[in-house]
Amino acid sequence: MSRLKELRKHINCELDKMQNADKRAGAYAHLYGVSLAATMIARKRGLDVELASMAGMLHDMYAYQSGSYENHAHKGADLARTILTDLELTNAEETELICSAIYHHDDKLTVDAPMDEVLKDADVIHHCMNDMSKEVKDKEKARFESLCAEFGM
Ligand SMILES: [Fe+2]
Ligand SMILES: [Fe+2]
Repeated sequence: MSRLKELRKHINCELDKMQNADKRAGAYAHLYGVSLAATMIARKRGLDVELASMAGMLHDMYAYQSGSYENHAHKGADLARTILTDLELTNAEETELICSAIYHHDDKLTVDAPMDEVLKDADVIHHCMNDMSKEVKDKEKARFESLCAEFGM
């Protein structure tokens, strides 16, 4: 089994514990959507697609498990480190890359390391394109516009 598949199996088990069916469906759609978007962006930018995809799968797990978005990026990085350590899927350097991306993913107005930027942009793609009838949030406008330019859309 690929390590992405193994990670997804673990995440599916955790998401299946969510009682509210709508919230559970939203969580699946968002994590898989961000994971796919992260793969595309990483490939376009010549970065590691597998790690980008894994970061996408993990990035909001803390919020879904705790039911709170309060400081969820920083707490989510700790949770991701625990999951990756338990599953033994990544080496120390890879774990750091993924956890750094998750730690910074809510800082949409600042620019961080390349993989951090992949996850922020993937998050924005899903927020903005999952339902295009919804208005783009102010703090995501500039990032969404540069993504549209980068991808010619
Ligand atoms: Fe988030
Ligand atoms: Fe997210």
